[in-house]
Amino acid sequence: MDSLDSGQKFSPRHDPEWESALQFLPATDSKPLEKKPGCRRKLWTGIGLVLAAAAISLLTGLLVWHYHLRSDVRVKKVYIGAMGIRDENFLPSYEDSNSLEFKHLASRVKKQLKLIYAKNSVLAKSFLDSTVQTFSEGTGGDDGVVAYYQSEFDVHISQQDSLDQAIESLTVVAESQKGRQGRLMLRPTDALSVNSVTSRAIDPRMTRTSLFERQLFNIHVREPGRIQSPGFPDSSYPPNVYLQWRLRADPGHRVRLDFHTLILEDDCQQDFIRIYDSLAPMENQVLTEQCGYPHDCLSFLSSGNVMLLTLVTSEDKNFPGFRANYSQTAATQQRMSGECGGTFSGEKGSFSSPFYPSNYPPKITCVWKIQVPVEKFVKVQFNKFFLGNNSNECPNDYVEVNGQRLCGSKPDSTVATSQSNTMTIKFNSDSSYVDQGFTAEYEAFVPTNPCPGRFQCTNNLCINNTLQCDGWDDCGDGSDEEKCICEATQMKCKNGRCKAKFWECNNVDDCGDNTDEEDCVKCQPGEFSCRNKRCIREKLVCDGKDDCLDGSDESRCEKSLVLQKCSQFTFRCRDGRCISKLNPECDYERDCDDGSDEEGCECGIRPYRSSRIVGGQVSRQGEFPWQVSLQSYGSGHVCGASVLSNRWLVTAAHCVQDNGPNKYSQADQWEALLGLHVQTQTNEWTVRRKVRRIIAHRDYDRVTYNNDIALMELDANVTLNQNIWPICLPSATHDFPAGQEAWITGWGATREGGQTSLILQKAEVRIINSTVCRNLMSDEVTDLMLCAGVLKGGVDACQGDSGGPLSVTSSGGRVFLAGLVSWGDGCGRRKKPGIYTRIPKYRQWIKENCGI
Ligand code: ARG
Repeated sequence: MDSLDSGQKFSPRHDPEWESALQFLPATDSKPLEKKPGCRRKLWTGIGLVLAAAAISLLTGLLVWHYHLRSDVRVKKVYIGAMGIRDENFLPSYEDSNSLEFKHLASRVKKQLKLIYAKNSVLAKSFLDSTVQTFSEGTGGDDGVVAYYQSEFDVHISQQDSLDQAIESLTVVAESQKGRQGRLMLRPTDALSVNSVTSRAIDPRMTRTSLFERQLFNIHVREPGRIQSPGFPDSSYPPNVYLQWRLRADPGHRVRLDFHTLILEDDCQQDFIRIYDSLAPMENQVLTEQCGYPHDCLSFLSSGNVMLLTLVTSEDKNFPGFRANYSQTAATQQRMSGECGGTFSGEKGSFSSPFYPSNYPPKITCVWKIQVPVEKFVKVQFNKFFLGNNSNECPNDYVEVNGQRLCGSKPDSTVATSQSNTMTIKFNSDSSYVDQGFTAEYEAFVPTNPCPGRFQCTNNLCINNTLQCDGWDDCGDGSDEEKCICEATQMKCKNGRCKAKFWECNNVDDCGDNTDEEDCVKCQPGEFSCRNKRCIREKLVCDGKDDCLDGSDESRCEKSLVLQKCSQFTFRCRDGRCISKLNPECDYERDCDDGSDEEGCECGIRPYRSSRIVGGQVSRQGEFPWQVSLQSYGSGHVCGASVLSNRWLVTAAHCVQDNGPNKYSQADQWEALLGLHVQTQTNEWTVRRKVRRIIAHRDYDRVTYNNDIALMELDANVTLNQNIWPICLPSATHDFPAGQEAWITGWGATREGGQTSLILQKAEVRIINSTVCRNLMSDEVTDLMLCAGVLKGGVDACQGDSGGPLSVTSSGGRVFLAGLVSWGDGCGRRKKPGIYTRIPKYRQWIKENCGI
């Protein structure tokens, strides 16, 4: 997820112009430092000023003359465009620019363009020439063939804007003609029936003068295959290139492109890919633009039988690039009879946007008609909903229910109800920018009793009665937690919710309006509460003195303090001195005088970014490069583990206990898979290693799961790569406060009692206060354990995730190992967090046993 991406440090680009501006500024500041000028000096200054003014006006005049009045300052402008042609059938030979047919049609298109430009005085004056680049089948509508061309103009520098306008207005003319079924007629007999002409200026990033390599690949996607950026996967893509892949499917088919890997520079102004629903990079047909390390769905479909993929790169910072699989999928007959939409007459049903979970194609309309028995109404619930940007009118892609449009992304379920026994739902996508779409379920209900035996939320969702007034917002609009009468064991929040009393004053906003954290008797107003529970005057915070006597009043200040006394809360430098800063290790700032807080910090990053889970989602390849799959000969994946170095892994001790016939305590029973993403698929970054030695904690307790930690030494070092990288170990005094976000990852079961998962899953949880946690769990939670989860339920680790990481991104951006998946009460149950081995408690033990 993006929160993890902040590891990168911003380094400003080298820009000479900007630098000279910076040097210039101090001159004004230095003025007051000058000696007071005498009278003579004033005179000279006056003369100097007059001369300077004269020089400036002369220069200005010259520039004006040069750019506006001199008749020979002309520029070349190139526009790209597409022409839709009626009454022509697409011939296979149009794919070959050397064929006679291609040349013939191309020359007719050129003539036609010339004629169109001749009708506009601005265009006529400056038009030089057009070249036809390629043809494709028309995409539905009236077009038989689409021609893609470039037109070159030569214009006086002052006329550039009117040329742009003329080009844009051309579109309008042609389109209004189209509305009246008219034609842009050509006198000669070989006139073309032109349906539409769309021309656009080229994206300036694609005309950067630094781009020295341009290359074009023509690919027919009838046979599935793959494309990748040059050098992939062994080296990063080349700088300053503009590459185009023209993908063409058989007539009546869509092009499908699925990305397997996509890692580019984070700044889309520098390196990016774009996908077009066209063979020319036309702005109005962009399906997506991507850069960095996108985590969204990366499967795309065209509306017609063509697609264009472009890659543009800049001088510096080059990354691995991409690999994508292409194929084609039949469309025509479905397009005619609706490859989406339909009629439903059952009491219940479900449907989704076309090709879900891939991105829906552009220019598609689907209509679902639902009809239920006369005495009933219809309710439809959208579970997933990603339709472009949020906007009021939803002019682009939308779902229309009862005549009302929905668009944008909706994090919670959205419900709509009908006022009769029928409902019509329409989905529409326009010609650019696609998204993942939606999934929906519908249900018939009796209007007088919409939620039989269940609670009806204000937003019309039905939830189990037991979920009402239990302190959790299950409706998504809070309506199940309104007007509640709290029980004796609960406190009443100001917003009317009831929350268990033991959540009062636990530093987490459980009420949602923070009222459970107000009026907590800690320190007086105007006082600061130290971590050792002392109270000091607020004024003393960050005053450079250790007033709390545990450094906590100086722990979040700009400057770290060297303390007289060390405590359980303070970081100890190698020289034995302790500093006040909280979690100073590997935060890119040298806090210890000996620099020891920044040593051994190559960990916790995703190298190519510049640098069994319940309720989770699939991760992206390389997103958690420290994740390991521990497999035993015979049983396949058993546990998770984390990479600590090129030789050592850490896992849970309970994973390496003999279990009946399985001799899990024996090193030779194991195999570690590093850099793995999909269980059954290894690739060039996956490394398989035998285990040489297992060091389980001597005090591991099989009953309480105390000290649930073990180290594994690999039989040979691994070479780190973009999918294999160590995670940072927190120091013994590292604090993971309650409420902090953390990630759990693994191939374990995706629900209690369920199957392990094929693709590495990730889920976001929060660290839970230990006192709260002890109150929730029936088994003992010791100080050597850490609780994390989502107390509402539904998000947790599960069988098969054991030994894997609970990771936290620190403020500096590095990822630290906070815990190891250890145990839980079922999986994902409400009010039952997951219990993890608390890693800071084992910092010394790890050092002693493997030297890291
Ligand atoms: N012990 C389990 C395993 O071996 C992991 C349990 C974690 N459970 C939980 N609800 N967090 O995979």
